[in-house]
Amino acid sequence: MTIHTIILAAGKGTRMNSNLPKVLQPLGGSNLISRVITTAQKTSDDITVVVGHQKNLLKSYIEGHYPSVKTADQDEQLGTGHAVKTAVHLITPNQRVLILYGDVPLISNATIQNLISSESPCSLLSMVLSDPTGYGRVIQDSAGHALKITEHKDASPEERKINEVFTGTMLVDGGLLIDALKSLENNNAASEYYLTDVVEILSTKGVKINSIQANPQEVIGVNNKKELHHVESILRTMNAEKLLDQGLTLTDASRVDLRGELSAGKDCSIDVNVIIEGTVSLGENVTIKSNVILENVSIGDNSVIEPFSHLVSAIIGSNCSIGPYARLREGSEIGNNAKIGNFVETKKTKLGNGAKANHLAYLGDADIGANANIGAGTITCNYDGVNKSKTTIGDNSFIGTNSSLVAPVNIGKGAYVGAGSVITKDVPDEALAVGRGKQIIKEDWAKNKK
Ligand code: UD1
Ligand code: CA
Repeated sequence: MTIHTIILAAGKGTRMNSNLPKVLQPLGGSNLISRVITTAQKTSDDITVVVGHQKNLLKSYIEGHYPSVKTADQDEQLGTGHAVKTAVHLITPNQRVLILYGDVPLISNATIQNLISSESPCSLLSMVLSDPTGYGRVIQDSAGHALKITEHKDASPEERKINEVFTGTMLVDGGLLIDALKSLENNNAASEYYLTDVVEILSTKGVKINSIQANPQEVIGVNNKKELHHVESILRTMNAEKLLDQGLTLTDASRVDLRGELSAGKDCSIDVNVIIEGTVSLGENVTIKSNVILENVSIGDNSVIEPFSHLVSAIIGSNCSIGPYARLREGSEIGNNAKIGNFVETKKTKLGNGAKANHLAYLGDADIGANANIGAGTITCNYDGVNKSKTTIGDNSFIGTNSSLVAPVNIGKGAYVGAGSVITKDVPDEALAVGRGKQIIKEDWAKNKK
């Protein structure tokens, strides 16, 4: 049977105090709904998100980022059962339907797999709380099968003593769900159509309903900024633990944000305030110092990224030193044993093995040979206002400080450029080019001025 996941996300989220819909609030470099959809995609054949409050914004976000995900409109929020009903036309009886909440973002694939492998026609995800106030209580028979869920508002004092509560997530056979939804009523304390009433409807028919317990941390809901912050810190800890399990050394696990995927060889270390985004891979013995951002970067063995460096879509070889305060932009390829120092920006630039740009340079659209030395203040003038042009710098060349290399231009192998030059013509191999105003001396000029 295929799995159709319905994600409830029509609620208002008033307590966020924000113009952004609740499920688009940021989390772990992404947002609540993206996390739930991405997790659901691992096990689902179909996904439908029930939208209501600010539905157009949410729909266009979903269409733009997850074209295969459908949406169903719930224009009036009349309860969780009503919400599922709005998507019922998209469900087929031979599917298993998984219900998730858009504002419960940390549910894991492993927990969903547990529900799926229960093979039961209906399984509830529950949790045990020392203070179950506000939650629906799971009422079970002596064999441990769920008979019904009683909402806190509707529960008797005896029922309120039950600590096993419903998390909101359940997996139920489509045929059973479609039928049960037809008989939902709203004669309860909230005058809502409760999804949870499906449990009693099915158990009365003789369906055996399992409840599988979740780690409460995973099924925390987010209703306000405080809870969002709490969930962000749980996520940060969960991710940092993954890195520690991989064998990384973290100076402070609470000050590393893994917002993408990181793979690393042995003996890598990450200092505080580091953000990892996209796909990052580290060789062995790589050192990432404090306040570094790495996004879609690969770094070779024994390289060191010094503090306050920002690397995006870059490939760094082995035994390199990058930063402090380096900015490597898209298409930067740094060879082995190379060095990029402070306040150097690179973009679509290859730096050969052993080459150095130690301070204050802009290297864009450039191909720089092995062991070249780029002086402080070197600028590749790659943009004329319309087109981008390329600069080529040969192996073993030496670019003196404060040189402007006006592209397109080639500097030959082993060539020298004098400090302060504006280079507009190609420089042959082994030549010296000097392109600057000649110095003049006016003796006693200052004296005569008076
Ligand atoms: C629900 C459960 C309760 C469970 C709790 C866990 C019901 C009746 N009760 O209660 O047993 O312990 O979750 O957190 O299901 N939503 C819609 N449309 C609606 C109503 C809700 O899309 O008309 C969405 C909300 O945006 C939210 C989710 O469904 O993401 C849960 O709704 P909420 O009103 O918070 O349910 P609870 O009353 O907390
Ligand atoms: Ca809730």
